[in-house]
Amino acid sequence: MKLPRQFFKPLAIGAPAPYRELPVRLERMIHFVPPHLEKMRAKVPDIAKQVDVVLGNLEDAIPSDAKEAARKGFIEMAQATDFGSTGLWTRINCLNSPWVLDDITEIVAAIGNKLDVIMLPKVEGAWDIHYLDQLLAQLEARHGVQKPILIHAILETAEGVKNVEEIAAASPRMHGMSLGPADLAASRAMKTTRVGGGHPDYKVLADPDGDKPRIGFQQDLWHYTIAKMVDACAANGIKPFYGPFGDFADLAACESQFRNAFLQGCVGAWSLHPTQIDIAKRVFSPDPGEVAFALKIVEAMPDGSGAVMIDGKMQDDATWKQAKVIVDLAKIVAAKDPEMGKVYGL
Ligand code: GLV
Ligand code: MG
Repeated sequence: MKLPRQFFKPLAIGAPAPYRELPVRLERMIHFVPPHLEKMRAKVPDIAKQVDVVLGNLEDAIPSDAKEAARKGFIEMAQATDFGSTGLWTRINCLNSPWVLDDITEIVAAIGNKLDVIMLPKVEGAWDIHYLDQLLAQLEARHGVQKPILIHAILETAEGVKNVEEIAAASPRMHGMSLGPADLAASRAMKTTRVGGGHPDYKVLADPDGDKPRIGFQQDLWHYTIAKMVDACAANGIKPFYGPFGDFADLAACESQFRNAFLQGCVGAWSLHPTQIDIAKRVFSPDPGEVAFALKIVEAMPDGSGAVMIDGKMQDDATWKQAKVIVDLAKIVAAKDPEMGKVYGL
């Protein structure tokens, strides 16, 4: 266990100092782009204007024989595009793959000063973060990178879930975590063939009542893992995200999965298809009615203490803190999206 005084020191001479607090950024959706496809790369300047984060995917879903082309394509699109306030991330291949070392070294050398976050798949424990942390510091020093490149872990193995608290606390470079339901289902030998979402057989059956048909209520397969991830992230001041939703045609189920994650504390989700961008925008921006009510609470309790009644509901220090979360998020959304600012009255 590293001692507190050492924790925030750069891991290489000449590397930028780690952040003490994460930069404030709106990251409602992490939009995945397959960078080996020229047709998809050509859309990036337009997409960058619509989303909060553009991510060049190098890992799963990129065929083995296109791994080098994806890496080259990502560097090319990063160099060619002005991302403005939109984040630029990449998902590298996993640490035991033959591609990952070149992913990291070539990308940091070429676009280290433009890259905000590296998403690291299949993280099993703090040791995976420590390895990438050290390597990034060495490369940042070598290439004169001015601000630390952050690490975002995918929580998608049983061992990773077991070690989630150590992963969240492993380095000041930790940005956050995403649930990876597809790999996690495989790692746990769950009996599903889906990328996220519910399953019709995972339900609780109502008690028998004579001959009446028994109603079954479908449950959320991901509730336990998301809750565990949210606690680990919140306790360490980093950000939890829901990951992918694979059924692009089922917009309602995607929205419901995103909303469950949002209500539980997640700040965003992945968009794998353009239709999921608007869903994420809608879900991860606070509801205008909630914002209006939260503003009332904050105004009625200027110093955040005591108790007041608003619309017949008791408010105290704890609801003031909840209201503050919603108002702060609404302000970040308003700064990026003036239309939403008008809707919120901010
Ligand atoms: C994402 O990478 C997943 O495995 O769900
Ligand atoms: Mg995965």
